[in-house]
Amino acid sequence: MEHILWCTGHDLKIKNAVKARGCFVYEQEGNCYLDLESGVWVTPLGHSNPRVNQAISDQAEKIIHCGYYNGSKIVDNAARELLKITGIKKGKGVFLSSGSEAVEFGIKAIHKATEKNKLLRLHDSFLGSYGAAGEKQKEAWYLLDWTDCQVCSEKENCKKDCPALEDIPYSELGGFVFEPGSAGGLVKFPPQPFIDNLVQLFRENGGLILVNEVTTGIGRSGKWFGFQYYGFQPDLVAMGKGLGNGYPVSATVMTGEVAKNLEGKGFYYQQSHQNDPLGCRVVVEVIDVIKEENLVNRSREKGEYLLERLKEIFSGFDFLKGIRGRGLMVALEFSGPENREAAYLHRELFNKGFIVSLRPGHYVLRIDPPLNIEIKHLDSFLQELEKILVFYQG
Ligand SMILES: Cc1ncc(COP(=O)(O)O)c(C=O)c1O
Repeated sequence: MEHILWCTGHDLKIKNAVKARGCFVYEQEGNCYLDLESGVWVTPLGHSNPRVNQAISDQAEKIIHCGYYNGSKIVDNAARELLKITGIKKGKGVFLSSGSEAVEFGIKAIHKATEKNKLLRLHDSFLGSYGAAGEKQKEAWYLLDWTDCQVCSEKENCKKDCPALEDIPYSELGGFVFEPGSAGGLVKFPPQPFIDNLVQLFRENGGLILVNEVTTGIGRSGKWFGFQYYGFQPDLVAMGKGLGNGYPVSATVMTGEVAKNLEGKGFYYQQSHQNDPLGCRVVVEVIDVIKEENLVNRSREKGEYLLERLKEIFSGFDFLKGIRGRGLMVALEFSGPENREAAYLHRELFNKGFIVSLRPGHYVLRIDPPLNIEIKHLDSFLQELEKILVFYQG
C-alpha cells in the first residue's frame, strides 16, 4: 500500500486481499480469514453475494447512472421498499453514497425544516466522518451525557421531570439525532423509557427525530432497524453500510410531512450520484434476499446463541467487564487500563484466521458477522476463542 495515504486510524491487517466470498476473505499468500466484522459491518449477506452480484451485472447492462435531473422507476421502487421496512407511510427518500452522507443529509433537512441549526445528540454518538456530523462543532450540538442513566436505579422507570431531561432547552433545538445501539462503536443501548421520554419532549416542542441506522439498520440488530426496540416512529431514518452489502449506497427516508415541509421551503441538496439506478437496484436485491431468507429473525436467533456461548466461555474470566448485544451486533468489553486482554485476543484470533474488530483506544471487541453466517462457522470461532483463553490463563 505504498501509494495509499493510510489514515483510517487502524493498522493494516491483511496486506493483499484478493478474494472475498460469503464469510471468508482470502489473502494472496493463501491465508483465509473468517470475517466476523463483515468488512466494516457492511456485508449482511456475506461478501460477493451471488444474488447481489447478479443484480449489479444485470443493472450495469441497463443503466448505472442517469444524472440527478433524470428519474428512473428502479429508484422510486427502492424508496418504496425502504419506506415499507421502516414503517413510514406516504414518506419519501433520497439515495446517496455513504452513511456519513445520509446522516449529514438528515441533519441538513432538520435544520431547514425546523429553521433551527442546533440539535441534540447523546455524548457518545459517532454520527459520521465529516460535516456537522463529523466535526461536531459546539455551536451545532447540545450534548446529552447519558453515562449516569446507564446505572440509574430508575432507568426502567425514567420520568420526564428527571433533571437530565428537564434541563434540555427543547424549544431552541431542531431535534434529536439518535443512534440506537452504536454509541461510538461501543454497542450500548440507551434504556427505552429514557429515549421514549426524550422523543416525546422533543415532539411536544416541535422537534424532529432522526435515527442514525447506518450500523444498526438492515437487520443487524435483530430487527430491521434499531429504533424498533423503542416505542416511537422517527421522522427521518438515515441508513448505509449493509444497505448495499458492500456497494457504496446509502439513503435517508422521511415522513410525508417532513418531505412536504422541505419541498415547500425549496430544500436544496445535490451530488453527482444522488439516486443512481445501480445503487437502487442493489438496495432492492438486498432487501429481497433478507426477506426471502428470513434473515432478520434468523440472525436474531443466532445472535442469542452467540451471546449465550460467549457468556459461558468467559465465565470466571474477571478481566471481562461485560458482554452485550442485539442480533448479530455483539460487543465484549474488557477492563482497562492497558487493554491487554482485548489486544491479545484480537491479535491471536487474527493469527488463527478470525477477524473481529477492536476500536483503537477502547477495550471493546466487536463481533458483527454476516446475518447468514452458518452456526458451524460461529462454532469454529467460539472453539478457537476458548482455546486461546485457556492458553492465556496458563
Ligand atoms: C453509527 C455510524 N454512523 C455513521 C457512520 C458513517 O458511515 P460511513 O462510514 O459509511 O460514512 C458510521 C461508520 O462507521 C457509524 O458507525
